[in-house]
Amino acid sequence: MRVLGIETSCDETAVAVYDSQHGLMSHQLYTQLPVHQQYGGVVPELASRDHIRKILPLTRQALKQAHSAWSDIDGIAYTAGPGLAGALLVGAVFARALGFSLNRPTLGVHHLEGHLLAPFLESTPPVPPFVALLVSGGHTQLFYVSAIGHYRLLGESLDDAAGEAFDKVAKMLGLGYPGGAALAALAEQGKPGFFTFPRPLIHRPDLNFSFSGLKTAVLQAWKKSGQTDQDKANIAYAFQEAVIDTLLIKTEKALMQMHSTRLVVAGGVGANTLLRTRLSACLEKMQGQVFYPRLEFCTDNAAMIAYAGWHYLKEGKQDADLAIRVKARWELQNG
Ligand code: KG4
Ligand code: ZN
Repeated sequence: MRVLGIETSCDETAVAVYDSQHGLMSHQLYTQLPVHQQYGGVVPELASRDHIRKILPLTRQALKQAHSAWSDIDGIAYTAGPGLAGALLVGAVFARALGFSLNRPTLGVHHLEGHLLAPFLESTPPVPPFVALLVSGGHTQLFYVSAIGHYRLLGESLDDAAGEAFDKVAKMLGLGYPGGAALAALAEQGKPGFFTFPRPLIHRPDLNFSFSGLKTAVLQAWKKSGQTDQDKANIAYAFQEAVIDTLLIKTEKALMQMHSTRLVVAGGVGANTLLRTRLSACLEKMQGQVFYPRLEFCTDNAAMIAYAGWHYLKEGKQDADLAIRVKARWELQNG
């Protein structure tokens, strides 16, 4: 079965082709970053308009790269939420219209389920059950995955997501938007021992996170510092240590609570080198295994949507009627 995947939940237009026999056949991504950068964040209306411009040419490219004709597509999966309503609608309307004209089934996919399943595109995919740490720009969540489609939420951020905290601190230090990767790079020039930031909620038995206080602590430290380039790097270093330490402590707790030694890491912050190094060391100590998506599939992409959609379309699941539905807010939790 060959599935076309479409992702338009935020500021990336992406299209991919996944095939049950050949695996991932193509993936195309266009980032709107330059459109939004000047505003310091994503402007929803501009995002929708840009998706409209790009979705068809990108789909043509993805099909060409996969040496496929329209008629070779057996099903179409698209991100139905969570995300920006207008942006989601562009992908949903396009996918549904395509499905209608080609007489092929379509299915709306949960964006976060896409992220969680991204490591399944690698040569050694994880085998459920496992614990999953989802760390993106919008979410910081720990799940217990007993099987594909069965996600139990163990804990989540009560305020800012980890990626959001990275972005806000990066903005504060003048590193642009989104600054997670730039902040992580700057942290490498930083030295230990100059700044220490709190590890929020680590002494609580639950598996929730909180990152908004950390952002305030960083702002105060930055204001009080001499604001030299070295101060900036030292703050980036201490901030990254605090976030990664907190993620590590809670993830370790989740693994112990669930008696699991298998971990899946997904989402944009999953590209962070320090997080990967620390989690890998932790799982090695436990004689367990950790699974990551390749770097380009940590952040938003359509390969993960095509894969997640294929999983359900092959079982006959599809959009039930002709109504086009998207969900800007949508919990991923079903056992
Ligand atoms: O998963 P994603 O593309 O977006 C959502 O679906 O929310 O993740 C984007 C987030 C941004 O906040 C970005 O700053 C962060 O991931 N990010 C990083 C790194 N690369 C991307 N954060 C820390 N270190 C990185 N290397
Ligand atoms: Zn995402």
